[in-house]
Amino acid sequence: MKVLVVGGGGREHVLCWALSRSAAVFCAPGNPGTAELGTNLPLGASDHAAIVGAVREHGIDLTVIGPEAPLAAGLVDDLARAGFKAFGPTADAARIEASKAYAKEVMFAAGVPAARSETFGDEAKALDYIASHAEPLVVKASGLAAGKGAIVCPTRAEAAAAAREMFGGKFGDAGSLVVVEEFLTGEELSILAVTDGEQVMLLPASQDHKRIGEGDTGPNTGGMGAYTPVSIADRALLERADREIIRPVLAEMARRGVPYRGVLYAGLMVDAAGHAKALEFNCRFGDPEAQVVLPAADLDLTEDLWRIAAGESWQPPVTYCEATRAAVTTVLATPGYPASPVKGQEIRLASPLPEHTILFHAGTALDDAGVLRAAGGRVLNATGLGRDVVEAAERSRALAESITFEGRQYRRDIAWREVARAGAA
Ligand code: AMP
Ligand code: GLY
Repeated sequence: MKVLVVGGGGREHVLCWALSRSAAVFCAPGNPGTAELGTNLPLGASDHAAIVGAVREHGIDLTVIGPEAPLAAGLVDDLARAGFKAFGPTADAARIEASKAYAKEVMFAAGVPAARSETFGDEAKALDYIASHAEPLVVKASGLAAGKGAIVCPTRAEAAAAAREMFGGKFGDAGSLVVVEEFLTGEELSILAVTDGEQVMLLPASQDHKRIGEGDTGPNTGGMGAYTPVSIADRALLERADREIIRPVLAEMARRGVPYRGVLYAGLMVDAAGHAKALEFNCRFGDPEAQVVLPAADLDLTEDLWRIAAGESWQPPVTYCEATRAAVTTVLATPGYPASPVKGQEIRLASPLPEHTILFHAGTALDDAGVLRAAGGRVLNATGLGRDVVEAAERSRALAESITFEGRQYRRDIAWREVARAGAA
């Protein structure tokens, strides 16, 4: 089987790593890490015609799409029209991520536990709503905004300012609809459900660390690290999330004539009593969640993804996939990330890498002289494996420490909640 992974970040590297167990992998455009596992094709993810052409030329059996932008832009639809199999939702189904207004409409229609909210296309109405609701509030640009479109506002005045900025064009078209919602407290959890639209396989639950700074401080980023398993995500919580959130959403999408195939990523907020509410849905694997979930699950997914993409009958090997080991990933980022990343630094890697670690590349590039350099905001993912999260976290941190480039930033406290729970146990 020949598989093409579309994208070039850490998520795509781990997808190539997982799929290369049983498939020959290609990656477009890929990065120096994916080049070690297969063939990189120098094509942009937004150039659908070039990707369709490459699939034909190389005899690709299955295309797996990593990022949300090509999914929302209909790459699965374009490949299907040309007669090729692609794993991921159609553009219509990807609206569950690309439009928060749509996601809230689906959640509401499906009766999913979620934050109370309302969607506005009109600034004055949004400001009236904000003035008459309790703080804190969360104000969100409905469209895709690279993870920066949700503003947690401690006061009504800040919420009003955020809404004004969005309607004023801060996020371009993404802010022409604005969702204002109730602030939820608790612990966030990421659940990735592999689905053909009806059957579901839940991958091990993980926790992301969105803030740049240790102790979860500073601005939000695409994700500075992640870990799995998460002890609060016990079987009871997962069964409930499956029954109350994942399956009702899939059923509602099907009812609307928009069956959802691919990975449905549910971002949940879990309260102190262990009850989960849906914060958001993404139409893809999480990044950096995939860099821990796939190594921890120890699954050969090629056949499953192919069957789902092909519309063949699919029986998930398990409904609740357990982590066979713990995994923690620490993201190394460039100086200035997330506001204004400074790139181009030479990267020095330890050789060989410490034991029980895997290094996933994200924003790296080889220069003409073959020197590895930082080429993106998030540069590398240092994944550590272990019997438990404490051991995996130590290995992840040791690997991150061993990688040097000028001004590198990384958090030394990834998985801190789980490490604290282990210490308290
Ligand atoms: P979103 O883009 O909707 O996933 O939101 C990004 C981040 O903002 C989430 O991961 C949360 O950390 C935070 N957030 C979003 N909605 C809420 C909410 N209703 N209550 C509390 N925090 C939220
Ligand atoms: N790590 C969060 C995301 O992939 O959206």
